[in-house]
Amino acid sequence: MKDSIRHLIQHALDRLSAEGVLPAGPAPAIQVENTRDKSHGDFASNIALMLAKPAGLKPRELAEKLIAALPADAGISKVEIAGPGFLNFFQNTAALAERLDAALADERLGVRKAGPLQRVVVDLSAPNLAKEMHVGHLRSTIIGDSAARVLEFLGDEVVRQNHVGDWGTQFGMLLAYMQEQPVDDGAGLSDLESFYRAAKKRFDESAEFADRARELVVRLQAGDSDCLRLWQRFNEISLSHCQSVYQRLGVKLGMDDVKGESAYNDDLPRVVEDLRAQGLLTESDGALCVFMEQFRNAEGNPLPLIVQKAGGGYLYATTDLAATRYRSRVLKADRALYFVDQRQALHFQMFFAAARLAGFVDPHFDMEHMGFGTMNGADGRPFKTRDGGTVKLVDLLDEAELRAYALVKGKNPTLDEAELRQIAHAVGIGAVKYADLSKHRTSDYSFNFEHMLSFEGNTAPYLLYAYTRVASIFRKLDGDLDAPLEGRIALQAEQEQALAAKLAQFAEVLNGVGEKGVPHLLCAYLYDLAGLFSSFYEHCPVLTAEDPATRQSRLRLAALTGRTLRQGLQLLGLETLERM
Ligand code: ARG
Repeated sequence: MKDSIRHLIQHALDRLSAEGVLPAGPAPAIQVENTRDKSHGDFASNIALMLAKPAGLKPRELAEKLIAALPADAGISKVEIAGPGFLNFFQNTAALAERLDAALADERLGVRKAGPLQRVVVDLSAPNLAKEMHVGHLRSTIIGDSAARVLEFLGDEVVRQNHVGDWGTQFGMLLAYMQEQPVDDGAGLSDLESFYRAAKKRFDESAEFADRARELVVRLQAGDSDCLRLWQRFNEISLSHCQSVYQRLGVKLGMDDVKGESAYNDDLPRVVEDLRAQGLLTESDGALCVFMEQFRNAEGNPLPLIVQKAGGGYLYATTDLAATRYRSRVLKADRALYFVDQRQALHFQMFFAAARLAGFVDPHFDMEHMGFGTMNGADGRPFKTRDGGTVKLVDLLDEAELRAYALVKGKNPTLDEAELRQIAHAVGIGAVKYADLSKHRTSDYSFNFEHMLSFEGNTAPYLLYAYTRVASIFRKLDGDLDAPLEGRIALQAEQEQALAAKLAQFAEVLNGVGEKGVPHLLCAYLYDLAGLFSSFYEHCPVLTAEDPATRQSRLRLAALTGRTLRQGLQLLGLETLERM
């Protein structure tokens, strides 16, 4: 709807320019917003305020001329001038109802991507395999998963890539320790964290061990088959730990999606050579670096992007250059989205710029760092265990499910054990995921079990419960939410209109999530939708409506709300429940 209003305004602007009312030349971007107060219409634009000055008119005068020049549109019932010169558009309720009827008949609920369909690489999760996945990887995994789902739903072709850290000097230490502690059955590696710590201890304590570790790295990099076998074994075990976490979280990531740092190994010398051939390399203390004008430190000195160390070793940036080239040139992607900690922002800016400078990527290829803030404890300080260690992801999920179990049992003591467990799983895991997803990606956030498990507010339990309420209407009818429904939507009561207007925004919200990689927009939308449904349900009898046409119309509105909530929750990666 906003798009068609933008078109209408553009039309009016063109007309006024042709008439000489507006000066020729590029106009500013036309802004159209959803209004908060529906008595002021459904959409508003400040275009007359923006253009009044260059036109030499008062904003309200220009607004009047714009309204006169607006083409008629079936979707708009009237346009008014408000305040200093805002244009307020009132949606035609009959046209709105028709759109919702069409959405109800459509598997994709009327959602289409606003722009052209693309091939998009989503770089997500990417734990370091030497250690166990920790809470820091939670955000990347969850937010990336949701963004990938939304893009797919919009029709894009999504390539998920789990850029795991499976290469580097720490593997020498681990291999040396594996030689001492045979782990072929995987048992010795059931706890990667303590394995890593034990290996590190040996490394720090024994010079002989440290030498062996260093030698193993060299042999591994030279492709020694024994070393490679051991290394592969280690990664398999570590990856299987990750896979079980993904499964438990309900994240769409499989072994096929793993394309770790080691996958680009063979290409690293070429990356350096190609940079050199283009005259982009400078030697600094023996290391090879790319210096770019725009990157300087606080003192104004140039910052290096190091691509090869003095000893010949390659770095994180070298691998990322190889990976981005692969994504653009081989995968022929249009876009790559990196869901990685905000603290790595400079790394991304720098290698994006270097990749462009070196012509490694197609000029139209978009590289976007979807950075996220830190997850803190309830006290607002970085998340740690009581004794100061990093919190393991599995421990966190165990606690979430345990708390959810107690909560659900308290509310519904008669549920049988199996169902109780299933609900506790959906609520516990859903709560952890939703708490993360509902905050703006770039802000730090405090992890707080009490908040995330509350049935009030913008939380998973609230939304999962709201969905079951809608589903229960259809159970009472002996039908299900997906059964076809007779009749048409007609919008009379104020609550029906407000609910309908919100339902019609689903496509726009999903497009916003896809463009900016910000699932919190979808959370906020679903929360509003659930609230509007509550007041609709309170004021507008559905099953007991006397007039059959009204009853069908309301049932259809309820069905579309239910399907939208379910679809939205699924796009966030939450498991929905039919009852709880
Ligand atoms: N393994 C890295 C880390 O844990 C994240 C990798 C993100 N992806 C990338 N292409 N750099 O910090």
